[in-house]
Amino acid sequence: MSKNSQAEEEGESKPISEALKRFKRSRLVLEPSLGVLGFFLVGLCLVWSFFYFDYRTAAKSYNLSDKSDRFVWLKLENNKSSTTISSNRVGFLEESGNKCDVFDGDWVWDESYPLYRSKDCRFLDEGFRCSEFGRSDLFYTQWRWQPRHCNLPRFDAKLMLEKLRDKRLVFVGDSIGRNQWESLLCLLSSAVKNESSVYEVNGSPITKHTGYLVFRFKDYNCTVEYYRSPFLVPQGRPPRGSHKKVKTALKLDTMEWTSSKWRGADVLVFNTGHWWNYGKTIRTGCYFQEGGEVKLKMSLDDAYKRALETVMKWIHTEVDSNKTRVFFRTFAPVHFRGGDWRTGGTCHMETLPEIGTTSLVSSETWEQLKILGDALSHYSNRSETVKLKALNITAMSAQRKDGHPSIYYLGSLGPAPLHRQDCSHWCLPGVPDTWNELMYALFMKQEASSSRRVKEANVTVS
Ligand SMILES: *[C@@H]1O[C@H](CO)[C@@H](O)[C@H](O)[C@H]1NC(C)=O
Ligand SMILES: *[C@@H]1O[C@H](CO)[C@@H](O)[C@H](O)[C@H]1NC(C)=O
Ligand SMILES: *[C@@H]1O[C@H](CO)[C@@H](O)[C@H](O)[C@H]1NC(C)=O
Ligand SMILES: *[C@@H]1O[C@H](CO)[C@@H](O)[C@H](O)[C@H]1NC(C)=O
Ligand SMILES: *[C@@H]1O[C@H](CO)[C@@H](O)[C@H](O)[C@H]1NC(C)=O
Ligand SMILES: *[C@@H]1O[C@H](CO)[C@@H](O)[C@H](O)[C@H]1NC(C)=O
Ligand SMILES: *[C@@H]1O[C@H](CO)[C@@H](O)[C@H](O)[C@H]1NC(C)=O
Ligand SMILES: *[C@@H]1O[C@H](CO)[C@@H](O)[C@H](O)[C@H]1NC(C)=O
Repeated sequence: MSKNSQAEEEGESKPISEALKRFKRSRLVLEPSLGVLGFFLVGLCLVWSFFYFDYRTAAKSYNLSDKSDRFVWLKLENNKSSTTISSNRVGFLEESGNKCDVFDGDWVWDESYPLYRSKDCRFLDEGFRCSEFGRSDLFYTQWRWQPRHCNLPRFDAKLMLEKLRDKRLVFVGDSIGRNQWESLLCLLSSAVKNESSVYEVNGSPITKHTGYLVFRFKDYNCTVEYYRSPFLVPQGRPPRGSHKKVKTALKLDTMEWTSSKWRGADVLVFNTGHWWNYGKTIRTGCYFQEGGEVKLKMSLDDAYKRALETVMKWIHTEVDSNKTRVFFRTFAPVHFRGGDWRTGGTCHMETLPEIGTTSLVSSETWEQLKILGDALSHYSNRSETVKLKALNITAMSAQRKDGHPSIYYLGSLGPAPLHRQDCSHWCLPGVPDTWNELMYALFMKQEASSSRRVKEANVTVS
């Protein structure tokens, strides 16, 4: 499965002191070998000059002058009022937008983006504040997702907070889920004037890596919460008498321990995927358990499938479908070009998306998407009433090789060494904002159709 997603949980989720230690260690390895350093620098110059040359050539032949014109050659829509572009598309929230697949579309340049600035948002890990810690290009913040057959509503934080009044919105998943959660905190808090009215209920700082964090928006009596659960099923001690090589076991037929805490949420947003790989399981002595038995021979794909089935069954039987909306975000692709995490894989100096192609996505990613798709559709077939929606962001995010922190995830510690790039998390503002805009659109769509139903019911009654 996803071989090269080792950056998961690196950077923002480890205590800073540990990151510092690791960083020092890697510096020590580098320092004695000035030759290696020199080699890197020459390589860097070479890469830069290629990029520069490329851009100059393109710019000259198209006679481009200012920034907003640069992307004309990518055949992108380029208009300051482009939030309302393409009047020939219907609005997704309108009834005529019902059939629109919002995940099918293109990235378009839009100067009204980003929706917030990282320095205005207190809820971001340093690891996601790329532009504040050395990343100098900002193009990656100005792409908007444009569905092919409809227009998305603009994210309205006030309206969303109104809809969330007296409610709980909960993210459950790995650190990419945390990435998306922090994005939503920034998007929502941009509409709140009184800074101190948004706070963590236990006073925990966002950088501290606890099992969960609960942020309250006091004026709206709502909470936006994150529970760390990279596999969605619990990892624990293996049963007594297991094989010696079994250090821990994933209990595939059991829900995560914390599920009792979030079962009653009004909105649940799941994700999993990056930890379902060899390096994070079998290599560390983590095997798969069903019932009282550890299945030494079970493949990763099968284990992933079983775990998803457990989650789907739980949603089906334990979640009140009249109250809770459930979103399942699909796998977010990584972009380690020419290697892997810690083995030279790189996304540094990627400043543009790869429009219209998903060639950078590995076959493992598609395989994983298919397993999830099967689990979801099997589930949807069994129950029509349940409000479970896939946030199918894999293909769109695959185009955004420019969206990762690369070497800028250590925050105030400075850039990381080139061979330890983070090409799996995302800079903020950035790509996860789009996932939240899509979630917002689906959420508002459901709101609109349920109020329409109520109205229709009133009409038939009277
Ligand atoms: C390039 O743009 C400049 C002004 O922006 C204009 O004077 C010049 O004629 C243009 N050249 C070409 C080849 O279009
Ligand atoms: C931008 O779009 C608006 C309406 O969508 C249009 O009236 C205007 O002419 C466009 N501007 C440019 C420079 O294309
Ligand atoms: C806040 O919301 C909770 C439900 O999440 C509700 O039980 C409680 O009564 C609300 N408090 C106020 C003051 O409205
Ligand atoms: C801001 O919120 C804090 C905490 O809820 C509250 O104590 C304070 O009175 C609020 N300030 C204003 C100006 O509303
Ligand atoms: C959900 O609502 C419907 C109709 O309002 C009702 O028949 C059903 O029993 C409810 N289900 C649950 C689990 O409360
Ligand atoms: C997600 O979209 C891809 C195409 O981009 C499609 O192949 C896949 O079936 C979709 N998966 C789900 C779960 O909707
Ligand atoms: C679910 O339903 C769709 C069509 O309604 C069908 O194509 C698909 O095979 C079904 N999936 C399962 C697992 O039954
Ligand atoms: C439907 O009717 C009920 C009672 O007659 C009323 O309270 C409610 O506001 C109505 N809902 C809508 C959406 O008109």
